[in-house]
Parts: sequence; C-alpha cells; structure tokens
Amino acid sequence: MRWLPFALLLPLVSVAAEIPVKRVEGEPAADPHSPAWLAQPAVAVPLYPQASVPPATKASRASVKVRAQRGAATLALHLEWADRKPATERGIGAFADAAAVQWPQRPEAELPYIGMGHRGAPVSLWFWRADGTAELLAAEGFGTLTVQPDGGVQARGEWKNGVWRVVLSRAAAPSQESLSVAFAIWNGEGAERDGLKRLSAWQTLRPDGKVSLRSTATSGNVALGKRLMREKGCAVCHNYPGNPARPAIGPDLSYAGGLHAPAYLAESLREPSKVVVPCRGCFAEQDGRRVSFMPPFEGSDTEREDILAFLKSLR
Ligand code: HEC
Repeated sequence: MRWLPFALLLPLVSVAAEIPVKRVEGEPAADPHSPAWLAQPAVAVPLYPQASVPPATKASRASVKVRAQRGAATLALHLEWADRKPATERGIGAFADAAAVQWPQRPEAELPYIGMGHRGAPVSLWFWRADGTAELLAAEGFGTLTVQPDGGVQARGEWKNGVWRVVLSRAAAPSQESLSVAFAIWNGEGAERDGLKRLSAWQTLRPDGKVSLRSTATSGNVALGKRLMREKGCAVCHNYPGNPARPAIGPDLSYAGGLHAPAYLAESLREPSKVVVPCRGCFAEQDGRRVSFMPPFEGSDTEREDILAFLKSLR
C-alpha cells in the first residue's frame, strides 16, 4: 500500500457545496418559521469578509444556513444566520440588517466575478433589508448597482432568539439545469452596508435534489507556494496571512481561496486584465479597456501550481 501515505498528503482544498432544491406542492411558505422550511435539512455556506475592494469589512468569518424550494411558479430560498441583536431601522449613521442572493444573469456563460459580476458578465440580486425592503437589483461590477423596478422579489424576515430567518422568492421558469448562486449578509449593528459585507463563493443549486460532494485535491505544495509569493513579488502588492508588509496596492488575498473559484484564481495569474478588480489605483483605463497593474505570472507550471495551492488554502 505504498500509495496510501501519498494520497493522505494531498491537501483537501475544497468540498464543493451543492444545495438541493426541494419540490413542493403549491408554493413555498412565505413564513420563515414555517415547519415546512425548518424540517428541511439546511446546507451551511461559509461567508467571508469582503476585502478585495476597500473599505474592507472588519468583521470575521460567518456562515449562513440555506434551504431551497421550488413550487409551481416560484423558486424560494430560506436563509438563516446568527445575529445577537436585530437592526431594523435606517437613519443617519444607522444601518439595517440585510441579505442578498446573487445570480448570474447569463447562466450559460462564464461565472461572473463574485463581487457583483464584471463587465460582460452581469448579475441579478434578490435583496432583502430588515426595514421591509424587498427588491431586484442588477450589477455588472462593483459600483454599478441599479434597482430593477417591479422586479417581483418577495421577501420576509423574522428575528427570534439571536437568529434571522428570511425567505426570498421570485417567479421562475422550471429549470432542469444546475444554477449558480451566491449569498451576502450585512450586519447593521456593525454599520455594514454596500461593500462592507460578508459574502460566499459561488454555490450550485441542484433542481433535481441530488447533491454530490466533490473534493478538489490539488497537486501544488502550499508551503512552497507561500515562499514563492515572496520570491515572485506577489508579497509586494498583496496582503495575506504571513505577509508582515501588509501592502494594499492590490486586493487583500486573505480569503481568496474561500471566495474565488480555482479557475478564477488561475486566470488571475495568467491574464490579470481579463477580470479587473475595480480597486482604486489597481488599473489604468486604455481605449475604454481596463488594464490591470498586476504583471502576468512568469514562472514554471510547478511554481504556478504551488502558488495556486497556497491561494486556495486562504479561507
Ligand atoms: C504590481 C503589483 C502586483 C503584483 C506584483 C501582483 N499583483 Fe495580483 N493584483 C494586483 C492588482 C492591482 C490586482 C487587482 C486588479 C486585477 O484584477 O488584476 C490584483 C489581483 C489579483 C488577484 C485577484 C484578487 C481578487 O480579489 O479578485 C489575485 C488572485 C492575485 N492578484 C494574485 C497575485 C499573485 C499570486 C501574484 C504573484 C505571482 C500577484 N498577484 C502579483 C497587483 C499585483
């Protein structure tokens, strides 16, 4: 059994979260405390502080429990997360708790950037806020958020014993396809709003109710990757755990593995200007195109795999 120790050494980088969609008679319950929701097993989805574009959220990691149901005409999501104190009023210096469900507008195309999509890859958002707001938003990158009038999003949230439970729903055509979906929450007590939030990576909704746990082992070496971050100059521009310089020239990579799909991380190294994170001082505008200040990675394939293994471990 010589292969066994080797297999055990391969780091288990991520277990893809899939969310089964339960079919229900009629329509899913609007009441977030309905037993029709609470009896259904939930999937815990990790949430990470938004740190790619300043101002970054100071809050720590969290998680949201997600349940999904499809009725005759609507698709509904039930979100549940811990919050010691509800914040339901907005005013000067006061912010209300909120949650959003993010969808790619073109499910057949490449996945949009996790932070509100990117140029050419727009997202739709179902948005709920504890002051009673329920709306459909659209965005094509940070800072491009617009409200879609008559978006048809229904949402109801209730706070009880330190837990928010929210049901968001919208009319949806029956789909046999897997759907990508991501989540965000804002803690009003912590003055969170806009980009100050915690968000998840893209997850997969499985309309057939079947989920598979996929583990994506990687061939790269995390420790070597961490060393290469310094040797290849990444540490000059990016903050990440173990980089004492704490530079802020490029986005903070502290949660890069938790938030970004492996394919996106690989693309960031290969072709930095393909999807440009719109942080201030991160890019130049040339002929209407954004050109990243990050140089494309130069090194061997093994070095790139090691760096990717390190990035995926940041979560
Ligand atoms: C000269 C500064 C600089 C260097 C050196 C640099 N980067 Fe970047 N990096 C940036 C900037 C600026 C951005 C944001 C613009 C963009 O999307 O390309 C970025 C974006 C990224 C992203 C996407 C982050 C996100 O939140 O979406 C990753 C991942 C990344 N860099 C990894 C690396 C790695 C790994 C190295 C070393 C091989 C490296 N960078 C070297 C400046 C740099």
